[in-house]
Amino acid sequence: MLDVNKVRKDFPFFTSNPDLIYFDNGATTQKPQCVIDAVSEFYTMGAANVHRGDYPLSLHWDALYDKTRESFAKLLNCQANEIVYTAGSTHSMNQIAYGLQRNFLKPGDVVLITENEHASNVMPWFRMRQESGIQYEYIPVDKQGNIHMEDAKKAMHAGVKAIAVAGVTNVLGAKQPLKELAALAHENGALMIVDGAQSVPHGPTDVQDLDIDFLGFSGHKMGGPGGTGIIYGKYDLLQKMEPVFLGGGMNARFEACGDMLYQEAPEKFEAGTPNIEGVIGLGRAAEYLLSLGMENIEAYEKDLRAYFAERMKELDNVDFYNPDNAYGPIAFNVKDVFAQDTGSYLAANNICVRSGNHCAKILHEVIGTDSTVRASLYFYNTKEEVDRFIEVTKEITLEKAVGIFF
Ligand SMILES: Cc1ncc(COP(=O)(O)O)c(C=O)c1O
Repeated sequence: MLDVNKVRKDFPFFTSNPDLIYFDNGATTQKPQCVIDAVSEFYTMGAANVHRGDYPLSLHWDALYDKTRESFAKLLNCQANEIVYTAGSTHSMNQIAYGLQRNFLKPGDVVLITENEHASNVMPWFRMRQESGIQYEYIPVDKQGNIHMEDAKKAMHAGVKAIAVAGVTNVLGAKQPLKELAALAHENGALMIVDGAQSVPHGPTDVQDLDIDFLGFSGHKMGGPGGTGIIYGKYDLLQKMEPVFLGGGMNARFEACGDMLYQEAPEKFEAGTPNIEGVIGLGRAAEYLLSLGMENIEAYEKDLRAYFAERMKELDNVDFYNPDNAYGPIAFNVKDVFAQDTGSYLAANNICVRSGNHCAKILHEVIGTDSTVRASLYFYNTKEEVDRFIEVTKEITLEKAVGIFF
């Protein structure tokens, strides 16, 4: 069982901000002291580049940088050489899409997505249609964003070469049936691609059990430093996938005539000087989550979310969009109040949420509204914070929300 009072002591944020309620974890998360220490060690001990220097300081960071892959191998149940460092989910999803465009997908091939997806798992496919005639189609979802397998089966056809969906969606918190979707994809010779930005930080992810081909997620949404992320890919697929960025560190050699030879995966995807301190800090975050136990994190958050959802149902001044989902954020609007005004009212009461479209700009096709208020939790949030949130939200009216500006 996760002891939230003990856990909160690991995060200096709570000492620095004793009165603030942070419910914007879908955007980014607070950092435990061990991650802050790992990053600052790089600056205080002495910076050096990785995989380029033959002196002890450089070799020290080489070892830590490479070892981080093992932490993610443990977290995801894969091999260390199946872990690629990126700058975040956006970078990961673009590398996967553009990497596949080059030597997996051809004009006319179809990628199945949903209207639930974050921009980074929509826009690359949109551009691909413009640039190379690769098509996308939508698997229908229900009003709370969930894919039902009978709809996924109907959407599948011989032209489909990939399914690309979020593990948990970033507004409605729909937890998609990844294992069943992967089986469906593979029965039809298609790849299974997962945007894990809102799923990996919050519970166990066993890529072998799920049989996922590619997974992208962000480090900063799991207690890691900014500008960090991961691609997991099955090794033979990583070997076949084309890197988007070319440059130092990822090539084995190149000749004046234009011949190029890349490094093996994963290095071939890490062109240029990487975010060394970010990667090392991210490794520390992964070890920290593993020490808490991903199952414990999931159980704690599920319980907290269920409590939050029950308390939301007491409010008669809100439209609550995802009352039945067990995971992810609480999405709502106060009746007649613009989402941003609700967000500002909550902010004036020391509560941080996000309001707007949350980069899921076609979700209005599902829920019929462009903007929502999103309260997103992490394992350090508490029922007392939820109670305070309910108390403040209960009193919001149009007059009050607009009144805070005058
Ligand atoms: C589902 C999902 N995918 C992708 C992203 C993009 O993550 P990043 O901004 O770290 O690249 C987010 C961020 O909110 C997200 O929620």
